Amino acid sequence: MILITGATGTIGSKVLDLLVEGDHDVRAMTRDPARLRAYDSTGVDVVIGDFDRPDSLRAAVDGIDTVFLLTAPGAAGPDHDRALIEAAIRAGVGRVVKLSAIDIPGSGTGAFDWHRPGETALRDGGVSWTILRPAGFASNSLAWAESIRAGGPVPNMSGPGAQGIVDPRDVAEVAVAALLSAEHAGQTYTLTGPENISVVDQAALIGAELGRTVPTVDVPIETACTQMLDAGAPASMVDMAAEGFALIRSGAARFVSDDVERVLGRPARSFADWIRDHRGSFTG
Ligand SMILES: NC(=O)c1ccc[n+]([C@@H]2O[C@H](COP(=O)([O-])OP(=O)(O)OC[C@H]3O[C@@H](n4cnc5c(N)ncnc54)[C@H](OP(=O)(O)O)[C@@H]3O)[C@@H](O)[C@H]2O)c1
Repeated sequence: MILITGATGTIGSKVLDLLVEGDHDVRAMTRDPARLRAYDSTGVDVVIGDFDRPDSLRAAVDGIDTVFLLTAPGAAGPDHDRALIEAAIRAGVGRVVKLSAIDIPGSGTGAFDWHRPGETALRDGGVSWTILRPAGFASNSLAWAESIRAGGPVPNMSGPGAQGIVDPRDVAEVAVAALLSAEHAGQTYTLTGPENISVVDQAALIGAELGRTVPTVDVPIETACTQMLDAGAPASMVDMAAEGFALIRSGAARFVSDDVERVLGRPARSFADWIRDHRGSFTG
């Protein structure tokens, strides 16, 4: 039995679908089971679990062989990871696959630092582990969809900086491979797409798909931070985002790995692939 945490999220939902398609025994964790009602007739065991409530995690891992560990974005990530890993080890779980984040050189307080304690706890925990470190997801571009549909610009907080944007479907497929086979035990995979692309490159690729120009507008990081704080984002999230934008802008995030291809035996999907398959989101 495989437990999927973050089963309603971008990656976890794809992991869940792939495991259901493969007819595997799956338990899906959420704080709100209504969000997984579509799985009522599939045999998926839906469990209510909250990383902030360790008692709920003990019930979630009971009888589980393998865990997909999603760290919800936020500064509580290390505590969440430790709580789940501790419960899993006590319950005799054999393998944990943790979704982490790419380690960008120079990172100080960013997303990777929220993952580092969880990675360490997993490596030191005595359970079989695989760690997945993806670059930025292609699906982040959905945040631009409303503006693009209205003919507006894509906000560019990272200037000319490029990164190896990865297709979330590839991340989920690698996760499933690691959940199902011991051959990935003890591996840390850095998951990227096939090329480094900037926000301007991404807008051009969306424009090529739509057959029109999609402009970008440079947004200073300070302006973006003020907007996020005004919109109610926690200061820790805003600090993390600011550092991420600055690192990408500096060129430090330029990195392409062949780990997706090594695990899946086929090239990583490109950003153009993702846009082609999600064209409708940008056309309304
Ligand atoms: N976006 C990127 O570009 C990117 C790049 C690299 C790494 N990452 C990493 O990917 C992770 C995010 O993955 P994602 O995009 O698939 O997630 P997501 O779409 O943001 O969804 C978050 C998930 O976390 C669950 N969750 C939130 N708080 C929870 C809590 N207290 N207890 C239990 N579950 C909770 C939610 O489940 P319910 O609401 O159903 O409970 C939901 O399924 C982060 O760790 C991030 O650092 C993201």
